[in-house]
Amino acid sequence: MNPKSTLPLKTIRDFIRYATTRLYNSEASFSHGYDNPVDEASFLVLRSLNIPLEYEEKFLEAKLTDDEREMILNNISRRCDELEPTAYITKEWWLTGFCFYVDDRALIPRSFIAELIKDHFGHLLKTTPRSILDMCTGSGCLAILLSMEFPGATVDAVDISQGALDVAQINISNYGLDGIVIPIRSDLFENLGSMKYDLIICNPPYVTEESMENLPGEYRHEPSLALAAGSDGMDVIKLLMKHAREHLNDGGLLVVELGDGAEAFKENFPQFPVQWLPCSGGPDQVFAITKESLP
Ligand SMILES: C[S@@+](CC[C@H](N)C(=O)[O-])C[C@H]1O[C@@H](n2cnc3c(N)ncnc32)[C@H](O)[C@@H]1O
Repeated sequence: MNPKSTLPLKTIRDFIRYATTRLYNSEASFSHGYDNPVDEASFLVLRSLNIPLEYEEKFLEAKLTDDEREMILNNISRRCDELEPTAYITKEWWLTGFCFYVDDRALIPRSFIAELIKDHFGHLLKTTPRSILDMCTGSGCLAILLSMEFPGATVDAVDISQGALDVAQINISNYGLDGIVIPIRSDLFENLGSMKYDLIICNPPYVTEESMENLPGEYRHEPSLALAAGSDGMDVIKLLMKHAREHLNDGGLLVVELGDGAEAFKENFPQFPVQWLPCSGGPDQVFAITKESLP
């Protein structure tokens, strides 16, 4: 759109209003953070301008330069026409109050595991872990949250994707955790030798083939490697369950997110005495199991 034709749009308030209307009129879905166009429009406009959200009121009547107007209009078009997630446009997303750099090499942070860290996974962790593995680390968000919760621990952050690990490295450096959170490229445990950990957490790909077909457009901007996991969504989880025990210290704990895969998991592993950890996603999105309970 020619910026001149936007002359009536002058202030940040005008652009938030315009972005809201565009979002309402678009095919955008709201499943990557915000659940409504109004809040997402505010975030998109303010963060495109690098204005902290808490200062919204202060700047609502501020006028934009021509360059800023063009940039915001372009961002609104990316979001509404191309269905690009806002997080990839602003290159940041928040998880349990912490901000992470993100781009389309890594999944947008939204794991339910994050909210279970504070109470140490329903108090199932009996001792403070000294060695932690974040398997399938993506942006490194969970590895970093764990490192901050358990400052004495080393955290290995494993992913098969070099692109994801490059994003994780940006976050590790941003949080000053170089040498503490270690990015490792590996197909699951393949490059980990005989490493053992007190705690292994994993938010693996778990979307079924059928669900992949029907995902909203926003998900097509995320790496399919981060989502797709075969006909029943269990491809990665099956391998994880097979090998996790070898990589856990005695008394160690495995925590896994599997989204809507609880039924498929129970069918595949009826004998596993897992403990479900209720979270905001529901009662059976995340489970924990001790080393001793793993066959
Ligand atoms: C659902 S994303 C989770 C990312 C991050 N942990 C989070 O919660 O935002 C899954 C990640 O697993 C990685 N992945 C897929 N298959 C893998 C494998 N065989 N070994 C290691 N990582 C894998 C993908 O590259 C992706 O980054």
